[in-house]
Amino acid sequence: FCHKLVLGIETSCDDTAAAVVDETGSVLGEAMHSQTEVHLNTVTGGIVPPVAQQLHRENIQRIVEETLSASRISPSDLSAIATTIKPGLALSLGVGLSFSLQLVKQFKKPFIPVHHMEAHALTIRLTNKVEFPFLVLLISGGHCLLALVRGVSDFLLLGKSLDIAPGDMLDKVARRLSLIRHPECSTMSGGKAIEHLAKEGNRLHFNINPPMQNAKNCDFSFTGLQHIIDKLITHKEKEEGIEKGQILSSAADIAAAVVSGGVASNLYIRKALEIVANAAQCTLLCPPPRLCTDNGIMVAWNGIERLRAGLGVLHDVEDIRYEPK
Ligand code: KG4
Ligand code: ZN
Repeated sequence: FCHKLVLGIETSCDDTAAAVVDETGSVLGEAMHSQTEVHLNTVTGGIVPPVAQQLHRENIQRIVEETLSASRISPSDLSAIATTIKPGLALSLGVGLSFSLQLVKQFKKPFIPVHHMEAHALTIRLTNKVEFPFLVLLISGGHCLLALVRGVSDFLLLGKSLDIAPGDMLDKVARRLSLIRHPECSTMSGGKAIEHLAKEGNRLHFNINPPMQNAKNCDFSFTGLQHIIDKLITHKEKEEGIEKGQILSSAADIAAAVVSGGVASNLYIRKALEIVANAAQCTLLCPPPRLCTDNGIMVAWNGIERLRAGLGVLHDVEDIRYEPK
């Protein structure tokens, strides 16, 4: 192989994912096991970390083997192994990390520690060859941040959520409305179910004022919005039956040049951000939805980016700078 090849492993939350990507951005192989359905059916409907850990343990070996065989390579062909080391659920991260370190030792390969948000942010350079610097909005189940990406590992944080992440808010609203019991949504994440059902509603039916509209900085807040929606649901439950579609399309009405992370797979939110970006005369770029939600490709690609930039191979694990200088 004349190209650099990186195996990426992602287990930060509830997806066990792996991929092999080369220097040109070609994906040689990938595999993924999603735990979404299992977690949706637990008592709380949220992720139970020890359950996630157990499922990662049961699947990691098979997922990595499937990835390598789909790629038609053996571990000895790899230039390095990249793995998400933070942020995420400690129990979940631990499974991917110890499995990778085992491979690293066995095949004597360099190890590249990957920051999950850096991987979400750089995915666009795999699909669109965007140059630094660029603005990125990362919206997912665990995070919400706006940053100027000046280099592979050089992020200037411009704003963040002061409370919960937008995906977390959507998941809570979805649980409150038991969307999992809807026959079309039984395997969908909360955010995806909301996108699906919101198509039935008119977003202007309820007058919801998103919080922080007049704040003079780039921070975000989502608990306020969640409380407004919660109150609306309680009120509607008391009145007549509730109009889920109407509530959901209002919930999706939140509003950068690159947007990524699980919530960025929402076509409504993408369209809204596109309008904002166009008004500021910039183009909005999004990876395709399957690369916005957690996946192994983004981790492998982050490994390629770090190899090319001569960054963070085996050392520098704590050196990823996310705070303004
Ligand atoms: O990036 P991701 O896969 O995992 C984290 O790093 O958090 O994002 C998962 C989040 C979940 O909260 C899920 O409800 C949300 O992304 N999500 C969506 C959609 N698909 C997934 N939110 C809105 N619309 C979607 N289509
Ligand atoms: Zn993520």
